[in-house]
Amino acid sequence: MGPKQHVLVVDDENNILSSLRRALQIEGFQVTVADGGEAALEAVEKGAVDLVLLDVAMPDIDGIEVLRRIKAKAPDQPVVMMSGHSTIETAVQATKLGAFDFIEKPLASERLLLTIRNALDSGRLRRENAELRRLQLGEMVGRSEAIKQIEQTIAKAAPTSGRVLITGPNGTGKELVARSLHVNSQRAEGPFIKVNCAAIAHDLIESELFGHEKGAFTGAANRRIGKFEQAHGGTLFLDEIGDMSLAAQAKVLRVLQEGELERVGGAETIIVDVRVIAATNKDLFAEIAAGRFREDLYYRLNVVPIALPALSERREDIPELVAHFLRQTSESHGRRPKQIEQSALTLLMQQPWPGNIRELRNVVERLVILVESPTIAAEHIVELLNVPSAVPVRRAAGELPLRDVVMAAEREAILAALERHEGQVAKAAAQLGLERSHLYKKMKILGIDRS
Ligand SMILES: Nc1ncnc2c1ncn2[C@@H]1O[C@H](COP(=O)(O)OP(=O)(O)OP(=O)(O)O)[C@@H](O)[C@H]1O
Ligand SMILES: [Mg+2]
Repeated sequence: MGPKQHVLVVDDENNILSSLRRALQIEGFQVTVADGGEAALEAVEKGAVDLVLLDVAMPDIDGIEVLRRIKAKAPDQPVVMMSGHSTIETAVQATKLGAFDFIEKPLASERLLLTIRNALDSGRLRRENAELRRLQLGEMVGRSEAIKQIEQTIAKAAPTSGRVLITGPNGTGKELVARSLHVNSQRAEGPFIKVNCAAIAHDLIESELFGHEKGAFTGAANRRIGKFEQAHGGTLFLDEIGDMSLAAQAKVLRVLQEGELERVGGAETIIVDVRVIAATNKDLFAEIAAGRFREDLYYRLNVVPIALPALSERREDIPELVAHFLRQTSESHGRRPKQIEQSALTLLMQQPWPGNIRELRNVVERLVILVESPTIAAEHIVELLNVPSAVPVRRAAGELPLRDVVMAAEREAILAALERHEGQVAKAAAQLGLERSHLYKKMKILGIDRS
């Protein structure tokens, strides 16, 4: 259980304050009361209020004015208005000013609690989305054919609500792709909800996805809104879908087919508008063959497939990724961005990278922290990764695949020729005995920038 959620109750009538305080404390909330507008604004100013319950008619400053002032300072602050003799105009005005809901006195406790829970959920989602947008600085880096094609697919698929199945080994950027599909969709303002299907106990996954009613099973003390409902109007990212139990797969299939669900232990049918994006590092065909994954679900999810290749299949992206992570990690550690020598890059391009981009990112971060000189050299990498150096070829040849040894040698030769001819590709090509177009192609594959 997280910390208690903090509700501020504002009303000029003391008996209302005390009865609400008691009722909400019993439900497990932390409660602060304010007997007028002035006191309310002061309490909000102090911060850490998750929700304000605000009376409309108060003698000092009326509730609508208090609402206006709260929203001017903290537009994301959830506020629920309550009133004993409200007119429709007041309700409309409150909604326009950003009140989450408007409830009538006398307060029926069921309705009140439901409204409070919904308002708290909406506040949390909005904060998470703001956070997400900030993280979106992380664009996809890379110019390999593979990355270009993936970017094109994202551009085409994002604006639709089509389901996308993202596959690829660990650390290849599956989550990054899922988030970028959301951010570039018409649902970008809606929630992005991630579920890690591998991390949830099999007997809890249904309640996690679809929610449950109070008392649905032992331990279900309160109603719970599931991830599908939370993602309404937005995107649900089902990560590690290959690890979902067959029972849960059947339920998910039904929601995908019918667009509706029931909470566990609930009778009500709930209609949801959710775009589903799924990801896995498993081979789902093999899972289907082994009877662990439903074929019909596979075809429902796999409307647009996006397959991320291992980093070792797009080594030409490594120089740009390294530059990107050097900038990013230096910034977050408050260091001056370091330079990296070509020979060090060559060495990084030769590594197997079983952990793919995540592993590369960690290595760059370690280099930023551990290397003291402003330039990262090949020796630093040899030392840090405990790998053989790129040269001499004879030694590397004993320990690396021939392809990687050849690539490194070609890269060094081309860099040397370009250096000798001050970056003039035509002259370097002539010296190397290559067609100019051939040299361009090689430079691209080897991640050599013209500058
Ligand atoms: N093309 C890219 N450009 C920049 N950063 C990337 C790229 N691809 C991945 N990353 C970064 O690499 C890290 C791993 O990516 P992500 O978490 O999306 O991988 P994943 O495929 O979901 O991994 P896992 O299967 O282990 O969950 C993240 O920090 C992500 O921002
Ligand atoms: Mg992931």
